[in-house]
Amino acid sequence: MNAFAPVTPGTVPVLPDSAPFTAEQRAYLNGFLAGLFSRAPDNATPVAPALPAEDFPWHDPALELDERLALAAGRAPARRMMAAMAQLDCGQCGYLCQTYAEALAEGRETSTGLCVPGAKPTQKALKALLAEAPVVAPAAPVAVAKPAHPVARLLESQRLTGAGSDKDVRRIVLDLSGTGLAYEPGDSLGVEAANDPALVDAVMAALAAPDALRDSLARERDIARPLDRTLDLLAGAAKNPKEAAMLRAMADGEDVGPDAPDLLDLLENFPSARPPVEDLIASLPALKPRLYSIASSPLAAPGRVELCVGVVRDERRGRMRHGVASNHLAFRADAVPTYVQTSHFRLPTRAETPIIMIGPGTGIAPFRALLQHRAGLAQTSPAWLFFGDRRSATDFLYREEIEAHLAAGSLSRLSLAWSRDGRAKDYVQHRMLEAAPDLWRWLQDGAHVYVCGDASRMAKDVDAALRQVAQQQGAMSADAARDWIVALARQGRYQRDVY
Ligand SMILES: Cc1cc2nc3c(=O)[nH]c(=O)nc-3n(C[C@H](O)[C@H](O)[C@H](O)COP(=O)(O)OP(=O)(O)OC[C@H]3O[C@@H](n4cnc5c(N)ncnc54)[C@H](O)[C@@H]3O)c2cc1C
Ligand SMILES: NC(=O)c1ccc[n+]([C@@H]2O[C@H](COP(=O)([O-])OP(=O)(O)OC[C@H]3O[C@@H](n4cnc5c(N)ncnc54)[C@H](OP(=O)(O)O)[C@@H]3O)[C@@H](O)[C@H]2O)c1
Repeated sequence: MNAFAPVTPGTVPVLPDSAPFTAEQRAYLNGFLAGLFSRAPDNATPVAPALPAEDFPWHDPALELDERLALAAGRAPARRMMAAMAQLDCGQCGYLCQTYAEALAEGRETSTGLCVPGAKPTQKALKALLAEAPVVAPAAPVAVAKPAHPVARLLESQRLTGAGSDKDVRRIVLDLSGTGLAYEPGDSLGVEAANDPALVDAVMAALAAPDALRDSLARERDIARPLDRTLDLLAGAAKNPKEAAMLRAMADGEDVGPDAPDLLDLLENFPSARPPVEDLIASLPALKPRLYSIASSPLAAPGRVELCVGVVRDERRGRMRHGVASNHLAFRADAVPTYVQTSHFRLPTRAETPIIMIGPGTGIAPFRALLQHRAGLAQTSPAWLFFGDRRSATDFLYREEIEAHLAAGSLSRLSLAWSRDGRAKDYVQHRMLEAAPDLWRWLQDGAHVYVCGDASRMAKDVDAALRQVAQQQGAMSADAARDWIVALARQGRYQRDVY
């Protein structure tokens, strides 16, 4: 039986009510058809997706947590837990949103705090969902077993931000020769980093740990984000009842604010809590690889890969904290185990399709790769870059290269936004809204939109700006603009790599 209603030229077909699909499957397919039949030159030979056995309507990072949870109401606990995740499939937890939720629901994973972009609100929601549907027989923590990744040699760590910038963003160059690794622009590089040796020393001293355990603390375990099971273990071992009660409250989810303690904070603040060292180390989460958007094209950097890394530093509880991988790459690395994570982030298949790239801050990384690639292929079809950062004088990353692309035609239009040059915040989405008629025309011409960078604020605001452009220029209601952007994404014309 043909499930689709007959199509009159120029109309968008919809599924008849009699078609054998659930309401969610029907909504998914109708959305897909709406996208398919809207104007999209790069869409000449679309490939229909396989009918999903199950739809995840909450799997959209632009939705708020409560909207996502509402969309999953009535579903199985694993699905409601999935809805609590940030929906970025960023891999920072070591899973995808769906598989992390399933691991929690089945008791294969016991930590509710692994969703980095979802942060505390996600953790709270997960704890509440687990309390509603407790796991019957939680599995024992799984031992750390790391796959062996080929080792790339660090060739360069060069500061890109100028003197006087309050950010340290670096061009990191790695030699891939002998690794067997190959990549395409749009891919990310997975990097296995080691903990800061000074922090490892301090933890070793606080634990009076034997030297034999150093490597585990340095390379295998995350010593920055202790898990509930570590807090449980410390609470059980604490000889001082006050310390035990405080640790128990933290393990039970008491809000410790944004300044969550790391392992060293716990050892210093709770000196009576000393479980056997091996048990304590085994309770820590595995140190996860970090992903970086590749910032080079193999056409421009054969045998090498370049990254654009923001060095993460902040002060908490009176001590300077250093992000593990960004500091490792910037200051300590020599040989780095790496792997290539292939991505959906790809240039359009038809070279003449216009592209719109939105990437403030380190979000510029994949666009440097795309621009290098276009230059290598002598592509001069329309390409528009929106870049922004704090100050034009010190934070215009890759300025000379971008200006050279503009002169050569591999980039045709550049819109810049400096957030701290003037009194008012100036962001990329302000440039987008100012240029709304042109942006809309590019979109009508079939442009593909790419967004990369900060997920928590920028990507949401850019998404809202795109919808606003559609409402203003396309005379759409808010609901219609939402359907339009969903259809754009389903056609592969709205791709985001946000973290
Ligand atoms: C697909 C993808 C692409 C990416 N591309 C890039 C890129 O091109 N460039 C780039 O710079 N980054 C990129 N990232 C981000 C990158 O993967 C890392 O997340 C980033 O570099 C920070 O890692 P880190 O190990 O240095 O910091 P981490 O050690 O992971 O620390 C990160 C932050 O968490 C805080 N933190 C640590 N412990 C705690 C705690 N107990 N409580 C509260 N806060 C804590 C730290 O202080 C710090 O602010 C990308 C991420 C993804 C998923
Ligand atoms: N701890 C550190 O030392 C440190 C330093 C840099 C970045 N980071 C983290 O690293 C990640 C990526 O850093 P990054 O260099 O790519 O970006 P970033 O430094 O966070 O921001 C890049 C630019 O985007 C602007 N911006 C802020 N909010 C925005 C919004 N809602 N919409 C559009 N633009 C916005 C910033 O302006 P304003 O900042 O002026 O508002 C800045 O001009 C972020 O998650 C950030 O939290 C940490």
